[in-house]
Amino acid sequence: MNNAAEKLYRTGDLPDEELSALILSEDAEENAALVKYADEVRRKYYGSKVYLRGLIEISSFCKNNCLYCGIRRGCHDAQRYRLDRPAIIECAAKGYKLGFRTFVLQGGEDPVFTDDLMCGVISELHEKYPDCAVTLSLGERSRESYRRMKEAGADRYLLRHEAASPELYSKLHPPEMSLENRKKCLYWLRELGYQVGAGFMAGAPFQTADDIIADLRFMQELRPHMIGIGPFIPHHGTPFAEKKRGTLDLTLKLLGIIRLMFPDVLLPATTALGTISPQGRELGLKTGCNVVMPNLSPADVRKKYDLYDNKLSSGSEAAECLRSLEEEIENAGYHAVHERGDHASMQNKGD
Ligand code: 5AD
Repeated sequence: MNNAAEKLYRTGDLPDEELSALILSEDAEENAALVKYADEVRRKYYGSKVYLRGLIEISSFCKNNCLYCGIRRGCHDAQRYRLDRPAIIECAAKGYKLGFRTFVLQGGEDPVFTDDLMCGVISELHEKYPDCAVTLSLGERSRESYRRMKEAGADRYLLRHEAASPELYSKLHPPEMSLENRKKCLYWLRELGYQVGAGFMAGAPFQTADDIIADLRFMQELRPHMIGIGPFIPHHGTPFAEKKRGTLDLTLKLLGIIRLMFPDVLLPATTALGTISPQGRELGLKTGCNVVMPNLSPADVRKKYDLYDNKLSSGSEAAECLRSLEEEIENAGYHAVHERGDHASMQNKGD
């Protein structure tokens, strides 16, 4: 009983077969042990701290056509918008007043957001809020683009690898996209000095335990600072409209495993996790998560950043309701902090 979770806690790794058995295990005791160890490890590295990130969704235009995603190019009834520079800066100003010290600029791959435009926004944020971290999540770009944006003041970059198994990657993406390029981008970002986030969806269509193991092994090689994991949730306007959603149990299982394999990683309790269950975020926090990312986008565009059906954008997902989110975090036994919240390896470096 509890052998796999205990061994993973002790050694930080498991052979493939044992990892696979743990991923598939429905043994209640084993799963409870995983939660307990995950919480112990997160407290060892981060205490009870939960870092807040203000999420600014800057564009719902995307030139890609990922089969699972509600803002894919081919989704003709998607509502498209983009924020201009003043609107982005205004979101950050609002967020700063609320106490956020990280801004995440996230968007589809929208060619209107050129390097010049992005560098302008980033340097303005950097000048106005030198005590804040700027995180980007804008998909695949050129090495030169990543380099220029880093130079302009960006600190971190989120780019989920989505699937490290080439077979699964090609079932989730159109032929013009490649796992090879995705990985190349992640290594460039690392090399350029970004704190890097990878990740994938739990319960994506066609995903097997072996695919998940490929994801974990890839991340052991990449050593990302952040890992974004949320359940797959179908979107009605995509080819995956009729596919089954990922479960709460599988998502929590993976969060626990990831906390034990990557003890000091920054691990958000994602919006998708909060969307599949009212207790999702709280359970995520209790299973190793140490980041939450409330939405700072202007209220009138929030519903348009429609990645999957019923995506939460109000209540404690909304930055205005930060106090109720902070209460929720306290009630779960943790403490929301107004800090930049860099990766443990980067803290106290005086940047
Ligand atoms: N369900 C859950 N997550 C999704 N994402 C995109 N579409 C979905 C969906 N249907 C995630 C992807 C992507 C991020 C922007 O959102 O992992 O990296």
